[in-house]
Amino acid sequence: MKLIYVAGKGGVGKSVCSAASGIWTARQGKDTLVFSMDPAHSLSDIFDIDLGSRPMKIREHLYAYEPDLAEEAKSFFRRYKNIFTALFGLFEVVVLPEDFGNMPGVSELIFMDKLNDIYVEKQYDFVVIDSAPTAMVLPLLQLPSITTGFVTKVLGMRNRWMGVLDLLQPGFGDRILSEVRTMRLKAETMRNALLDPEAASITIVTIPEKAAVEESRRLIETVESHGVAVSSIIINHVIRDCDCRFCREKKASQTSYIQELRDRYREKRITILPDYGGEVLGEGLLQVAEDLYAKGEMKI
Ligand SMILES: Nc1ncnc2c1ncn2[C@@H]1O[C@H](COP(=O)(O)OP(=O)(O)O)[C@@H](O)[C@H]1O
Ligand SMILES: [Mg+2]
Repeated sequence: MKLIYVAGKGGVGKSVCSAASGIWTARQGKDTLVFSMDPAHSLSDIFDIDLGSRPMKIREHLYAYEPDLAEEAKSFFRRYKNIFTALFGLFEVVVLPEDFGNMPGVSELIFMDKLNDIYVEKQYDFVVIDSAPTAMVLPLLQLPSITTGFVTKVLGMRNRWMGVLDLLQPGFGDRILSEVRTMRLKAETMRNALLDPEAASITIVTIPEKAAVEESRRLIETVESHGVAVSSIIINHVIRDCDCRFCREKKASQTSYIQELRDRYREKRITILPDYGGEVLGEGLLQVAEDLYAKGEMKI
């Protein structure tokens, strides 16, 4: 199984490129799941199909999945009930199950947990991850050390607190530890997958404008400082030849950013995706898949 992780700034075309990548791998006869890790899901709109909250077959070899964050938050809470009961109890906060998924950082944990389930089931040849804007990939990489730190702390507290926790409820301390270990194992499995170029590739989508180019540079720097290689860059919304003044000026500015990216990332596969002049939906994705993988530099 291979993960194709699609990252980048908001609105640059990650979901369109994820959906098109799924269409491409499925057309090569590979069972593919396009998995939305953005709480603001948009795959239903892009595929033009109401996806529901289970993986749904949408064409030969192609499945798409937008986990329902509120629903998943409840089962996640149940899975790690002891950890959260202890944490919330410790800080004397009351969190309703329906609010849990909206707490900062929790959606990353939930999606990571879900992705791990899919990853270990090995049911698909490819899983394309349509991620949330920029920040999402970092928590995924940092989770193992956060949970390791947490485990160490819990272990350190063990002698002092386990007696007290066990007095409250026999076996409570050990149940917390076992849940933390499960969470850490999942986080480590996913980080190791991202670190292994055979198991995962990261594609950055950007547009040829200053803010996006700069944000991509920072994202690539941070991701690579964690030892994860970014293999491909898609430069989206590149205007095609047109002789009007507006397009000529825009083209000149875009060309200089494209050159900047080509100079900086000589060793990466760079694919130019044209602006199609209107939103890309449904069957329009076939063209995008062709432009990325048949005409462009993208490889599966
Ligand atoms: N090359 C393109 N040409 C025209 N419209 C595009 C192109 N790429 C993306 N879009 C449109 O831009 C909008 C944002 O794209 P989307 O993939 O949802 O971005 P992201 O997932 O990065 O937030 C959508 O309406 C989409 O149809
Ligand atoms: Mg999106």
